[in-house]
Amino acid sequence: MSIENIKKDFETELANCHTLSSLEELRIKYRGQKGIITLLSRTIKDQPKEERGAFGKNVNILKNNADNLLNNKKEELKVIELESKVESEWIDPTIDIKLEKGHLHPLSEIQNKIEDIFTSMGFVVLDGPETETEENNFEALNIPKDHPARDMQDTFWTTDGNLLRTHTSAIQVRGMKNLKPPFKVIGPGRVFRYEALDASHENTFYQVEGMVVDKNISVANLIASMKTLLKEVFEKDVKVRLRPGYFPFVEPGFELDISCLICNGEGCSVCKQTGWVELLPCGLVHPEVLKHGGIDPNEYSGFAFGLGLNRLVMMKYGINDIRHFQSSDLRFVKQF
Ligand code: DAH
Repeated sequence: MSIENIKKDFETELANCHTLSSLEELRIKYRGQKGIITLLSRTIKDQPKEERGAFGKNVNILKNNADNLLNNKKEELKVIELESKVESEWIDPTIDIKLEKGHLHPLSEIQNKIEDIFTSMGFVVLDGPETETEENNFEALNIPKDHPARDMQDTFWTTDGNLLRTHTSAIQVRGMKNLKPPFKVIGPGRVFRYEALDASHENTFYQVEGMVVDKNISVANLIASMKTLLKEVFEKDVKVRLRPGYFPFVEPGFELDISCLICNGEGCSVCKQTGWVELLPCGLVHPEVLKHGGIDPNEYSGFAFGLGLNRLVMMKYGINDIRHFQSSDLRFVKQF
């Protein structure tokens, strides 16, 4: 084939190349090791002497020309392919997509906050299972079978004779059995009661149990810790009152009430028109309970408290019905 024809064919084929891969095929066809132009240039030495110079010169022109055209086309196709990629993968950053951001539930937030407050006072956070033994939930807390106090906490029983813990006090039992005094622990968690529901009663709610065991623990230690806790949680001084309260696992036992923050002590449905809300039952750990936990009551004493988290959140945010927490109503959760 003449140089002229090779040139023509090459240029036609080049004009029909629209992708980088077909261009590469073309390059190999003409300029690869066994390409048409490459092989042609190897025949220069076989030409008759008098034609060899002119032939060689023309082949070189053909070769250089082909190489230049291939390079230029390659650059051109690269730009085109990039542009079509940008076109097909185009993201418009100006479109205003509103991504909703989640956040912690107010109960989790208050639990985290309480854990922070207590760990900064040297307390250790303990965990316990939601399904408990009768022993940990009742017996070890000085509430034997048939004790009238069992009626205070109506219970969901499991078919195998265990129960859904009715209070986080079960965690203090686990603490006593596993730790050597002195110790300071809190045990946050979900608890269950088989109860009729109303604005201030739920069958599922959250508590934080607290327990300090050391030598010479007194009511004064208890009151000081409770005051610090309430001040930190509400970030202001709140009015409190202490009155005797009965719980089989403490002696003496107290009810620590705070002035209702929803009605400012005037009386509303949450405080049952009394102006006060029971927030923090507490007391000095009963010697029987210490004994049950393997602690000698002649050597050690302690205080304990049980904090209702739902009520705390209700006071803090002015929520007037405890049933909102479990309602799964997003309008409720989104307010926080
Ligand atoms: N466990 C009790 C309840 O849920 C609350 C409680 C009262 C816990 C007195 C205590 C305490 O540690 O000392 O009703």
